Amino acid sequence: MGIQTIAIAGDHASPELKAVLAEQLRAAGHTVLDLGTNGPESVDYPSFADAVAAALADGRANAGVLICGTGIGISIAANRHRHVRAALCHTPTEARLTRLHNDANVLCLGARTIGVEVAKDCVATFFTTEFEGGRHARRVAMLG
Ligand code: RB5
Repeated sequence: MGIQTIAIAGDHASPELKAVLAEQLRAAGHTVLDLGTNGPESVDYPSFADAVAAALADGRANAGVLICGTGIGISIAANRHRHVRAALCHTPTEARLTRLHNDANVLCLGARTIGVEVAKDCVATFFTTEFEGGRHARRVAMLG
């Protein structure tokens, strides 16, 4: 992926990691659209997945980052949207392969399950890896 406008959001587990990753993305030249949450109050992760999906649908963003405690709930919610290919990643290897093979457009991370340096490496890898196309394009098309 080249330079993007990236929508970033997450639930109450996310603000600290989200701020670090937003700064990393800006430093790499991306435009960041922060859709919250930005405080410790308990909120519902599906709303934030929906917000990033809406930003992708209406063109305010080309890609996204979603964070909850595990990354699981928010990735399930994001993948309810047909135009979203959200990948929960715990390693830069997964981040690389989901871009190469799945053309994932949203990176999901668990703020309570991986460390900040691993999360940063996942972000760096995800947003610098291009989709491989070829046989993978056929499979991605089959996702609908
Ligand atoms: C919130 O406590 C937690 O359930 C949420 O962040 C996430 O881990 C859900 O999948």
